[in-house]
Amino acid sequence: MVRFQTASSKGGDPRRATTSGSFRSMSTTSAVVLEPAGVVAAGVTKPHAASNRAEINQTDKRERCTVPLIAGLAVNSFPRRLRACLTALALRYWTDQPRSVRMSKVTVVGAGKYGSTTAQRLAAMDIVDEVVMTDIVEGLPQGLALDMNQSRPVEKYRTLVIGTNDYADTAGSDVVVITAGLPRKPGMSRMDLLEVNAKIVKDVTEQIIKYSPEAILVVVTNPLDQMTTLAAEVSGLSHDKVLGQAGILDSSRLAHFLSEATGVDILEIDALTLGSHGPTMVPVPSQCTVAGKPLTDYLSDDEIQAILERTRGGGGEIVALLKTGSAYYAPSSAAARMVAAIIKDEKAMMPVCAWVAGEYGINDVYLGVPAKLGKNGVEEVVVMDLTADEIAALAEAATSVKEKVDELHQLEL
Ligand SMILES: NC(=O)c1ccc[n+]([C@@H]2O[C@H](COP(=O)([O-])OP(=O)(O)OC[C@H]3O[C@@H](n4cnc5c(N)ncnc54)[C@H](O)[C@@H]3O)[C@@H](O)[C@H]2O)c1
Repeated sequence: MVRFQTASSKGGDPRRATTSGSFRSMSTTSAVVLEPAGVVAAGVTKPHAASNRAEINQTDKRERCTVPLIAGLAVNSFPRRLRACLTALALRYWTDQPRSVRMSKVTVVGAGKYGSTTAQRLAAMDIVDEVVMTDIVEGLPQGLALDMNQSRPVEKYRTLVIGTNDYADTAGSDVVVITAGLPRKPGMSRMDLLEVNAKIVKDVTEQIIKYSPEAILVVVTNPLDQMTTLAAEVSGLSHDKVLGQAGILDSSRLAHFLSEATGVDILEIDALTLGSHGPTMVPVPSQCTVAGKPLTDYLSDDEIQAILERTRGGGGEIVALLKTGSAYYAPSSAAARMVAAIIKDEKAMMPVCAWVAGEYGINDVYLGVPAKLGKNGVEEVVVMDLTADEIAALAEAATSVKEKVDELHQLEL
């Protein structure tokens, strides 16, 4: 279903830019594919990361003890009922104030269209202390970070974005989103980017892992399935800590087209795509619903097939319209959603590019599958009840990805 701090400039280092401030937080929601409603609710009602919840509770406890005490002592001479009233008001005010205990850090590599919108979305979610954004272009991440940070008072969040060209600033990241690399031009396939982007992703991964050996890597650079494989190989991380973004975006595109065709509210659409991020994408109509009903209640078979085909070419359609660069609003929503599920340890299920080891009868390949994301990255690849045709299409996608991974391995990087 598709629903969805402060720091100071480091010793005047011009490669790193920050601003400071402190404001009340606000979380954002949107519908993401296949999330249990309970998980969505848990994720959006609290602005803080689940991993920090224990510390926040401790802060709450201190606040609950000290505030009534101070308030009670201060107005000891007041009548009892007035005192109780004032104490309750003080407690309510105090516990609503900004809390200081948040420890997490996310890095976004690449401050282009995809990277910068991802950094901005993550910052606005207000679920980590810092979003570090790095790029090879000097001044670009710094300027963007400064601009983003100045939106905090208006948007009401505290997360600070740090723009830098120095990987040392990424040290200790919990999650790293890799967006560095060239986007497609009109007429190009994602595979046309293989060699140039493989060099970039290899270099970036080596740098990242040097400073954040425990990080979870979320890869978005195209060609996605191959770049996720490469990041896993270069980083040496276990497969569950390296994953790629494609399925949430493709499912979201499918949901948009279904809403458009049926006239049903976008938030009433459940859509799912699996497989590769490319021609062997596997839309899964058996798992798609419109207002809780099968697609066939609303659309003819021909109409459904046309929508699935448009979804397969969804990225190319936007590239052709833009003429320079590729899509980034919906893609960055998808990447930020994955990061949020990891940071908040949601165990939320969503389609991602994950290592498949036996599920659906497929072995040893990064492929788009439904998976539960939590603080350890991919915590479970979920085996859904797919039709025989859908499973066959998934197997075909796996074969295609493996062939392209062979091409990757033949490159001299
Ligand atoms: N997985 C998906 O669903 C999906 C969707 C859209 C785009 N993408 C891909 O995401 C990538 C980025 O797209 P974009 O629109 O942001 O492109 P962009 O050109 O706007 O930005 C790319 C950025 O990467 C930077 N960069 C290049 N080499 C670098 C390096 N070695 N280290 C750090 N930064 C480096 C560039 O300076 C640039 O700022 C492309 O490969 C694109 O195809 C993937």
